[in-house]
Amino acid sequence: MQKVIIDTDPGLGIREADFDDGVALLLALKSPQIDVIGITTVHGNVPVSYGTRNVLRLLHLMQRNVKVAQGAHRPIILDYPGKVKRPDREIEGIFQFIPSMEDNLISTFAPQFIVDTANKSEDKIIIVGIGPLTNIALSLIINPGIKEKIEKIIIMGGAAFYPGNVTPVAEFNIWMDPEAAEVVFSSGLPIVMVGLNVTQKVGFTKKDFSLLKNKIDPLSKLFYLSAVTWLDYLKKMQNTRECYIHDALAVGYLLDEKLISTRQAYVSIETKGALTRGQTVIDTQGISGKRPNAQVCMEIDKKRFREMVIDCLEKL
Ligand code: BDR
Ligand code: CA
Repeated sequence: MQKVIIDTDPGLGIREADFDDGVALLLALKSPQIDVIGITTVHGNVPVSYGTRNVLRLLHLMQRNVKVAQGAHRPIILDYPGKVKRPDREIEGIFQFIPSMEDNLISTFAPQFIVDTANKSEDKIIIVGIGPLTNIALSLIINPGIKEKIEKIIIMGGAAFYPGNVTPVAEFNIWMDPEAAEVVFSSGLPIVMVGLNVTQKVGFTKKDFSLLKNKIDPLSKLFYLSAVTWLDYLKKMQNTRECYIHDALAVGYLLDEKLISTRQAYVSIETKGALTRGQTVIDTQGISGKRPNAQVCMEIDKKRFREMVIDCLEKL
């Protein structure tokens, strides 16, 4: 069975924080097709310690034993421009009934855990990066030799020929640590880039989550309240009634490649531009003279993805 490490910044259960990492983890942990051998946490949607606790609670609710290693609390080189507020306030009452499963937490720093796990594994592993790429970049810096043990890295990040969601051109995960993204994209490893141009093709509304509304088990409650709270926040801030479950699509691709068509391209990361820092610059025509370093996701089977997510929530 394919061995997978997921690197994540889950805001699940935190007010004003995206909960899509949670759905991605759910899809991965519920799938009989893959073996999640570790979950690493990184700064991003929420401070890293909150993300770690969210993962531990999720594992407890799912009664799963998976090693969890906490990673970087900030980007490798430059801290975020200006003050980026990362939410840290729990949705009222949501966690009173959910203890976390501390047993799963190991003391190794996440990048070192990735190195150790890759080195120990007999088979090649796949890494799914659904937060800023700090931990994954650090693991490749600590020990480039692990490349031999990595089959590919599937990344939710960037945007191909499509606007950004933090600046006009930059997507959140890449923008949060562009230098780390550059290390990963230039590593020579096979990369799949699942960008906003595909993740924003499928919107989910409160109606989609209503199937959880009357369920009383804590897992359903957690996902229902997280979804509704996030959707209320988006309504207030962006006047929209739908949200995107970006990260779940990266896991979706891992489970079913037919979900998305891809195109080979050379992807580089803008790390300097005063207006364009964090942009994924996509060369599909070889203009840069560089050989493709990524499979860039282009078209998505919307119905198939929607069914995958709803089916997973239905079976909670
Ligand atoms: C990405 O940024 C985060 O807010 C989400 O969890 C996702 O990983 C989308 O731009
Ligand atoms: Ca994320």
